[in-house]
Amino acid sequence: MKVAIMGFGVVGSGVAEVIAQNADHIRAHSLVDLSLSHILDIRDFPGSAFAPYMTKDVNDILSDDETKIVVETMGGVEPAFTFVSACLQKGKHVVTSNKELVAKKGDVLLALARANNVNFLFEAAVGGGIPIIRPLTICLAANRIREIAGILNGTTNFILSKMITDNMDFQTALRLAQEKGYAEKDPTADVEGIDACRKICILASLATGSHIYPDGILTEGITKLTKDDVAYAEAFGCVIKLIARAKTLENGRWCVTVSPALVPKTHMLAGVNDVFNACFVRGDMVGDVLLYGQGAGKLATASAVVADAIDCAQHSDKRRIYGWGEAKDGVLADPMEAPVRLFVRAKTSGKAADTAKLLSALSGCEVADSADGDLVFITPEAKEKDLRDALAPFDAASVIRLF
Ligand code: HSE
Repeated sequence: MKVAIMGFGVVGSGVAEVIAQNADHIRAHSLVDLSLSHILDIRDFPGSAFAPYMTKDVNDILSDDETKIVVETMGGVEPAFTFVSACLQKGKHVVTSNKELVAKKGDVLLALARANNVNFLFEAAVGGGIPIIRPLTICLAANRIREIAGILNGTTNFILSKMITDNMDFQTALRLAQEKGYAEKDPTADVEGIDACRKICILASLATGSHIYPDGILTEGITKLTKDDVAYAEAFGCVIKLIARAKTLENGRWCVTVSPALVPKTHMLAGVNDVFNACFVRGDMVGDVLLYGQGAGKLATASAVVADAIDCAQHSDKRRIYGWGEAKDGVLADPMEAPVRLFVRAKTSGKAADTAKLLSALSGCEVADSADGDLVFITPEAKEKDLRDALAPFDAASVIRLF
C-alpha cells in the first residue's frame, strides 16, 4: 500500500527510513506491503536517498488514488490541519505524530475521519515510541480510568536529569537536548510545559471521551526550578519531575494539570531518567500500570507512526476506534479545589523567632534542615486554594506540588 509523508523533518525522515529498512520484515510479519509514494516538504534535500519522492505540491498526494495512507509529520496546526482535512475528505487514512494538531483539532479531525469512513491515528503523538494510545483505549477498555500521570516530555526530563545527576545548569542541559534533536524548534513548548500539556490533553480526552482543549489547563514549566530546589527535594527523599496529570476527584470531575512535582524516590516514576518518558495509569479493575520507553527521537517516534500505518493497511476497510467526541461541560474540575501537599522554599530573616511565627500559620508542616535565610517545608494535605491563601505571608521563592 502506498504511503505519502507530509513533512520531512526529524520524524518524517525517520518514517521514510523505517519503511525503507524494514519493509521486508513488515511484509513478512504484518502481511502488508508499505511503500513510499510522495514526500511533501517546502525544502530541498539534494543528495537524499529519498529525493525522487519529493514534491512541494500537496495536490500530488491528494490526487494520487494509489496513496491510501498519509503520514503527517509537519508539526503545528497550519497548514497541517488543512492538509489532513483534505486527505480525510479524499478518503485517505491519516497517521500523525503532531500532538499540537491532535490536542487542538482532534475532535474535528476524528469526526471528519468518521464521516469519510477512514482512520485518523496518532499513537506517536504521546510518548513517542511508547505504546500508550492503544493500551489505554483497547487493553484497558474494561476499566474506568481513575488517573493518568506521565513524564511526557523527553527534553525536560533530560534537563532535570542532568541538573540532578550531573550538576549541570539549565541552559547547558537545554543546549545538549537540542543538539540531540529532542527539543522542539522553539524549546519554549518543552520547557514551559506546553508540549506535555498537549499530550496529557490527548490522554485525558481518550479517558473521558470528551475533547479536553489545552487552553485553560493549569500549565507550569521547569524554567524557574533551581539547583536549590533539586537539593532540598533530595533532602525529603524526592526527585523533581515535570508531571502531566489527569485525575478524577471525589466529585467525579477531572483535575488536569502540568507542573513540576516532588516525586518520592519510591514511586515508579522517580526512576524515569534522561530522555525517557513513562506513563502511569490507574484503572479501577487493573490497578496500576506503567508504560515506559523513548518519548522522543527520530526512529523511536517513527516506529509508532509506521505501526499506525500498518494498522491502517491491515484494516483499510474498517474504522479503528481510538478517539473521543466533542467537548462536554462539567468534565473538568478547578485544580485549586483539589487536595494537595506543597513543597515551599521561602526566604526569611534567618531569625528563629520569625521562622516560628511564619510556620505557626501552617500547622503540621514537615520542615527540612536548611541554609540560613531559607525556610523549607512541606505542608500537610489540604485544598490547594486554602494552602495558597495560608502561604500568602511567606516570601516563597518556590512552591512545588508533591506527587
Ligand atoms: N520535544 C518533545 C519531547 C518531542 O522532548 O518530548 C516529542 O514529543
